[in-house]
Order: sequence, then structure tokens, then C-alpha cells
Amino acid sequence: MKTRVTELLGIKYPIIQGGMQWLSRAEFAAAVSNAGGLGIITAATHPGKKELVEEIRKTRALTDKPFGVNISMLPEVGPGDKTMEYVEAVIEERVPVVETSGRSPEEFVPLLKKAGIKLLHKVPAVRYAKKAERIGADAVIIVGFECGGHPGMDDVTTMILTPKTVDSVSIPVIAGGGIADARGFVAALAMGAEGVVMGTRFVATTESLAHPKFKEWIVKAQETDTVIIQRSIRNAARVMKNAAAAKVLEMEARGASLEELLTVISGRVGRRALFEGDLEGGTFAIGQCVGLINEIKPVREVIEEIVHGAQEILSRLQKILAQS
Ligand SMILES: Cc1cc2nc3c(=O)[nH]c(=O)nc-3n(C[C@H](O)[C@H](O)[C@H](O)COP(=O)(O)O)c2cc1C
Repeated sequence: MKTRVTELLGIKYPIIQGGMQWLSRAEFAAAVSNAGGLGIITAATHPGKKELVEEIRKTRALTDKPFGVNISMLPEVGPGDKTMEYVEAVIEERVPVVETSGRSPEEFVPLLKKAGIKLLHKVPAVRYAKKAERIGADAVIIVGFECGGHPGMDDVTTMILTPKTVDSVSIPVIAGGGIADARGFVAALAMGAEGVVMGTRFVATTESLAHPKFKEWIVKAQETDTVIIQRSIRNAARVMKNAAAAKVLEMEARGASLEELLTVISGRVGRRALFEGDLEGGTFAIGQCVGLINEIKPVREVIEEIVHGAQEILSRLQKILAQS
């Protein structure tokens, strides 16, 4: 497979595992890279530069293929922002690829470029994709309303955002949000994307660090089992529909402050529940494509099924077109 994304990143298949806080650690990201995709570890999982450097070195020891580091930034620069520390870590360690999200990485672009790092900026709206191109991102990842994590505030789906972004920028477009199998992959390519990003599908893999109870929940879950929270703080997040999410919605309806919301939505609460298998105790990012996932399997199988499935879909489509 050859697209501008495989060429840019030096990978076999244009399939990228989006950064996932707490989950995308070295072993997991290396498994994705070793299977021909691009694995991404997440900076925010680590308290600071030193720990991130260790994780980068660990990843490098587990794969000789390209991999990335996700640097998720808060929408506003605030106290305790570790972005600069993380940027220093990726530059010093000469990480091949960085995925940014949350706010514009503009101030870091010259530093990343100088270090020869490829920048993928992830955005939930066409206007931000245009800005990503303007500030010098090498490719843009566009994620639609279906996605696990932060779909932005506009509620526009991947089906619309992908072709619109392709028409609006000339850098390569990577599509995400709702893609879990070969059908979604081919659809994204058909809409002009040159790669896909997947999060939810990779949570239900053998190598994922999520507690087995979460993986089992994903296999059973339906496409209606996620919900959007955090609209009141303009940081919408698609999460698993559970008791913690219901509590957040109730708090938001009565105008709770950020401090109060943080008692439920803070990363620490979610992390404990995630690793202890407490399905109701925290809020967990997950996308609507949970409804398409029926099996926990190794990362390599997920990727190979997409690649082989794509060929089958194409021959089916060719037959349909030949009849017209
Ligand atoms: C469990 C989980 C954790 C995530 N954590 C992050 C994160 O820390 N930073 C980030 O930029 N995106 C995060 N995402 C978003 C993914 O990188 C990716 O953009 C998204 O999952 C794609 O949509 P999909 O879930 O429909 O595949 C997370 C997604 C999931 C499912």
C-alpha cells in the first residue's frame, strides 16, 4: 500500500493507532508498528520529561519501525502545563513522528521541524485543519463526531468532515472516528483520506492494557452505549455510558464548576477505575464503533484483517462497477 501517508511516515500500511492516555504504552505501540501501522505512545501518561524519555527508549528497544508520541495539550495554556518538557523529550530522543491534539501546536512547529520530526496534528473541524496546514503540519488527522475522546463542539460526522477536509487542504489527510474494520478503512480512502487513525478498535486487543472487564464490555457494547459529556466546559468528550458519565451530565445540568467536575472526570479517577476494572467508577473515552467490535484479538490480526478485507471490498466494488 502506498499513499502520501505511508511515504511520509515510512510505514507499510496507512493505519495509525491514535494516542490513548494510560493505554498506549511502549509494548502496545510497538506491537502496532511491528504489524506495519504506526504505534503512538502518549506523553501525558508520564509525569514529566524523564519518564517520557524512558518510555521512548523502551519503545525503540521493542521495534525498529517508526513510531510516534502523542502530545495532547489542554485547550488553554495553564499552570502545570508540561508541553514544553514533552517537546524537549521528543526532540532529544529524535522521535520520528509526533501527534498533537487539544490546541494549535504552532509555537512548537519550528523546533519539531528543525529536529526532522514529522508532525501530525489532530483536529475535529475543517477550520482547524486549514490552520494545521498553515502552521506547517506535515499531515492533518480529522476526527468526526463518532470518535472516542474529543470530537470538538460542532457535532459533525467523519462522513462529512473527511471529504470536506480533503477539499480544503493540500497536505495529506488522515481520517478517524468510527473506523474499526476494512469497510471503514476503504470508505476513508474513498473519501480522499490517505490514512486512518483508530483508537477504540485498538482498546479491544490482546496487547491493550485495559482491564479485561473493559475489553469484554467493548465486545458486548452497542453503538448507542457512548455519550458526550463536558460540553459545559467546551471540552466535549465521547465516553462510555456509565454511572460516572451520568453523574457528570447531572452535575453539568445544574451548572457545576470545573473543580467539582474534576472530582469525577480527572485522569487519576479514570486511571484507577480502568486498571481495576471498575466499569462504573470513572469516565472512559470510547467511540461509537464499539458497536462494530465483536472480538478481542491481537493487534496484528486487526491490521491484517483490514488490509485483506480492503482487497475483498475492492473486488466486490469492481464487480458492481463492471455491471454498470
Ligand atoms: C481510550 C481512549 C483514550 C484516548 N486518549 C487520547 C489522548 O490521550 N490524546 C488524544 O489526542 N486522543 C486520545 N484518544 C483519541 C484517539 O487517539 C483517536 O483520535 C480516536 O479514538 C479515534 O476515534 P475512534 O475511537 O472512533 O477510533 C483516545 C481514545 C480512546 C478510545
